[in-house]
Amino acid sequence: MKKVSVLVLGAGSRGNAYAAYSERFPEELDIVAVAEPVRERREKFAGRYGIKGENCFPGWEEALAVPKLADAVFVCTLDGMHTMPAVKAMELGYDVMLEKPMSNKEEECIAIERAARESGRILTVCHVLRYTPFFRKIKGLVDEGAVGKIQTIDLIENVGYWHYAHSFVRGNWRDAEETSPMILAKSCHDLDIISWLAGERCEWISSFGSLTHFTERNKPEGAPGNCMEGCPCQDTCVYYAPKIYLNGNTGWPVDVVTGDLTPEGIAEALREGPYGRCVYGCDNNVVDHQVVAMEFAGGVTASFTMCGFTAQMTRKMKIMGTQGEIMADLEKTVISLHRFGEDGERAVPVPPAEDGFGHGGGDFGVVQNFIRLANGEGDNLTSARASLQSHLMCFAAEKARIGHCTVRMG
Ligand SMILES: NC(=O)c1ccc[n+]([C@@H]2O[C@H](COP(=O)([O-])OP(=O)(O)OC[C@H]3O[C@@H](n4cnc5c(N)ncnc54)[C@H](O)[C@@H]3O)[C@@H](O)[C@H]2O)c1
Repeated sequence: MKKVSVLVLGAGSRGNAYAAYSERFPEELDIVAVAEPVRERREKFAGRYGIKGENCFPGWEEALAVPKLADAVFVCTLDGMHTMPAVKAMELGYDVMLEKPMSNKEEECIAIERAARESGRILTVCHVLRYTPFFRKIKGLVDEGAVGKIQTIDLIENVGYWHYAHSFVRGNWRDAEETSPMILAKSCHDLDIISWLAGERCEWISSFGSLTHFTERNKPEGAPGNCMEGCPCQDTCVYYAPKIYLNGNTGWPVDVVTGDLTPEGIAEALREGPYGRCVYGCDNNVVDHQVVAMEFAGGVTASFTMCGFTAQMTRKMKIMGTQGEIMADLEKTVISLHRFGEDGERAVPVPPAEDGFGHGGGDFGVVQNFIRLANGEGDNLTSARASLQSHLMCFAAEKARIGHCTVRMG
């Protein structure tokens, strides 16, 4: 297999998560260039992957202004900065691995799909869940008819209370205008999995949800704007920032808060940055709970719930078919199958995920599959075309939620 060389655009969390593949499998992937405006991140990334000085750029604009310097580009910038680099990279002849959401604008998702089709380049969207052994196993069971013909799918995304506060109240994805609404930012994975399993086109969609808890209205009396300013509720509030960030952990999500992972460095970042803010006094506007109802061609129905108020951080799913049902819990990696007429349910073994990679092995799987595609092997499970369908479902769900209506998908 030919080694694939890559230019990484955005050396943040995701850029690093995918580039790490090259450390484990240096014969398959070579990170040869980076574009990242934060100098500290860029230099750290360049040092880690041995990137030459002339291949380090302050932004994607500069990196894509020079002649092609790798086989492929990983687009790992924030949601509103995906379309231009992805389209430009394909024009220059790069294959592209693009972070989800494809874009936070419907017309741009359509434009990306068109650009991928017209350029003939590979474009893979990082719907990492499709590449996990867990969801591959479920898809295999469905395709082999283990539950007969699917009638309905029920998926619950338990975001986890502190994860929700970190990413969607204090963090990058708190403002739908700046990044994306929740249904795109977090739940495009879920609608993608549902659409993949349903195996048909979604025809009707409706949705409800709102931001009710993390608002100024619920701010306790006397709570300051920042937890580090002596909050009187620090013993009782589960969102008190030191409980989440000053507890000895130096991995995610603490490494998002600061590059200085000493207790003093973290405390300073909490005082000065967004992650120390009172969760009831932030500039957040994304929903903290949402439900979506869907109907697919052929009559399969599905329901999806996203909730920020959960102790667990997991996705739980139930697939009900004419001959049986599948129940699954991603975090526990448990799948059970109950075929009607059989005595009880049975556990379905799930192959182990590659160690050391996030999203149940999905971060590994998407890169591995992309390398195979670049070598002319395998199927593009999350091509621009396949991903466009689930993105359009997200936009329709958001329209339905805001308009309190049911949307017919075109
Ligand atoms: N597939 C998944 O499961 C998954 C999980 C989390 C996040 N994401 C998505 O990944 C993307 C990146 O998220 P993240 O958590 O890595 O964010 P991040 O903020 O950690 O990283 C983004 C990086 O882009 C850099 N950047 C800004 N302007 C740039 C420019 N002009 N050129 C190049 N780089 C630039 C930023 O400085 C930052 O380092 C987002 O779109 C997010 O929604 C996907």
